[in-house]
Amino acid sequence: MNETLAGFLYLLAAVAFILGIKRLSSPATARSGNQYASAGMLLAVIVTLLDRSIVGYGAIAAGIIVGGGVGAYLARSVEMTAMPQLVAAFNGFGGGSSALVALAEMSNFTNLPVRTLVTVAISIFIGGLTLSGSFVAFGKLQGIIDGRAISTPGQRVLDPLLAIGALAAAVAIVVSDNAASGWILAALAVVLGVTRTLPIGGADMPVVISFLNSASGVAAAAAGFVIESNALIISGALVGASGLILTNIMVKAMNRTLGAVLFSAFGATGDTALAVGSGDRVARRGSPEDVAVSLAYAKRVVIVPGYGLAVAQAQHTIRELASLLEGRGVEVRYAIHPVAGRMPGHMNVLLAEADVPYDLLYDLEDINPDFPSTDVALVVGANDVVNPLARSDSGSPIYGMPILDVDRSHLVVVVKRSLSPGYAGIDNPLFYQDNTLMLFADAKKGLAEVVSSIKEL
Ligand code: TAP
Repeated sequence: MNETLAGFLYLLAAVAFILGIKRLSSPATARSGNQYASAGMLLAVIVTLLDRSIVGYGAIAAGIIVGGGVGAYLARSVEMTAMPQLVAAFNGFGGGSSALVALAEMSNFTNLPVRTLVTVAISIFIGGLTLSGSFVAFGKLQGIIDGRAISTPGQRVLDPLLAIGALAAAVAIVVSDNAASGWILAALAVVLGVTRTLPIGGADMPVVISFLNSASGVAAAAAGFVIESNALIISGALVGASGLILTNIMVKAMNRTLGAVLFSAFGATGDTALAVGSGDRVARRGSPEDVAVSLAYAKRVVIVPGYGLAVAQAQHTIRELASLLEGRGVEVRYAIHPVAGRMPGHMNVLLAEADVPYDLLYDLEDINPDFPSTDVALVVGANDVVNPLARSDSGSPIYGMPILDVDRSHLVVVVKRSLSPGYAGIDNPLFYQDNTLMLFADAKKGLAEVVSSIKEL
């Protein structure tokens, strides 16, 4: 293929990636954003297949069939709640392939220029680290590896030694252009990825995944410099930058810093769990009929979804409940906390699946001033994002995290199965407030009973 034409088509693909990302910023345009980006990727793949001196198409076709088949199967079968670990696995494969591209370049060609060797070293190091780090993150979220922060006494010595070894191997690559140094660097990076991710607790894992996503983009961009592919450089840079922006949004919403997530052993799940429901505090229990009456005769209701809504897959039931209330003249809105659930935009995706209109979804800053004039705040499977300790207890791990001020509503109805804590593993005084009614049930089942009761009113 003519070089100018190939360059132009790669540019078109890059424009499609950028437009795709831009359109992902709103739920209304997100679907077409995905289509733009996929079309760009298809174009880039076709141009590469026609442009490069391909030795044989057999292995490529087999790779597309196997990889595409596995991808299509996973996209259809993986539960929404398991999406973070799926993304982690994809990041790992992305990082691993970038490292392999760089290793192949080193093994197959000699006398590479210094600038190429520098990008080879970067690609191998970041790619190797992303590969193993992502699979440790996958294992933790999937429950294959203990989700708590796992740190060993020798870690403080081992990690710097591994880092120094990796730096020495990287220098050896640039100076000697020796493929063996490439493999040594890859091995050290893989070990470092494991030792750096194991000490991070499960609660911080989504942040780590987002960060590794960004790292996989940087590795891909470096691999793009190695093989002089503009499309790979641009798409890698886009992933790197957007992953970093997302990481920043997540750590801010959790009131953490990236340094604290990556380098302190905070975030352990399990160890931090306090005795829940202890002392003489009593949570007021309500029946589905009680909840139905308070909702049906309210003027203003705000629904606060959380992780439990996703677990129970109660989004359609909540929509049915909201429609029923709206039919009775009740104003129903939804309050969306930026880190409700287990991945960014988790609640938006679930509610969009049930066709809840976007304009009824309110961000934290917009809805918080309205809680004092809200008759009923209906909290469905949310816990940490409505925990008032974040405002008042400076010793709490979630202190300083902005929360939805549901406790300031006239009545709070909390739908969850028990008094168990949420992700942060801490007790929630909201459950024992005088204005709180607990409906102990699976969200889908409990809300379905509320719906039937309202229909009978
Ligand atoms: P959580 O605080 O994790 O609480 C979820 C609650 O859902 C649990 O207390 C659980 O109580 C309940 N639940 C589970 N299954 C249920 C079911 N079938 N029916 C009804 N309830 C059910 O959730 P949240 O308020 O959404 O907060 C999210 C947490 O995840 C925050 O700590 C946040 O920092 C963390 N996090 C989020 C993200 C992103 S990006 N979203 C990233 C990293 C960390 P029961 O067991 O009693 O039912």
